[in-house]
Amino acid sequence: MAALNTVFVLNGPNLNLLGTREPDIYGRETLGDIERRVRERAKAHALNVVFRQSNAEAEIIGWIHEARVQAKAVIINGGALTHTSIAILDALKAFDGPIIEVHLSNIYRREAFRHQSFISQAASGVICGLGPFGYEVAVDAVARLIRS
Ligand code: DQA
Repeated sequence: MAALNTVFVLNGPNLNLLGTREPDIYGRETLGDIERRVRERAKAHALNVVFRQSNAEAEIIGWIHEARVQAKAVIINGGALTHTSIAILDALKAFDGPIIEVHLSNIYRREAFRHQSFISQAASGVICGLGPFGYEVAVDAVARLIRS
C-alpha cells in the first residue's frame, strides 16, 4: 500500500523558477535541487516521496485530495497562495495526518501581506527562513510525527 509511507511534497506558484527567481531572497538552488535533498532525507526514513509543483490553485487542491487516500503526511510550500487561499486551507483541513508548512524565506521579516498564512491554520508545524534546508527539516518532522 503506497499510502503507508508516502509523503506528498507540494509546491505552489513560481517555485518552478527557483534558482533564477529573486536569488537574493530565495537563493540559487533549483526546485530540482530541493527535490534531491528531500528524496535523500526521505530515504533515510524509508519514506516514499511524491514531489510536485503547480502554478494553479485547483491543481494543488486536487493533489491534496489525492493525498487523503495516498499519503501519510503533506509538506507544502504554497508560495503566494499561502496568503490568499481559503480553498487550500479547507482542502488541508480535510487531510487526516501531519501537515508541515514550509517557506524558504522568513515570511515574518518581509512585507506585511506575507505575515498572514491561511495554511498555518491547518499545519502541524511551520518552518520558514531556513532556505532549502527547511524541506529537509520538514521531512525529519513528518517522519517523527507519522511514527508517534
Ligand atoms: C514563499 C514565500 C511566499 O510569500 C512567496 O509568495 C513565495 C515563496 C517562500 O518559500 O519563502 O512564492 O512561500
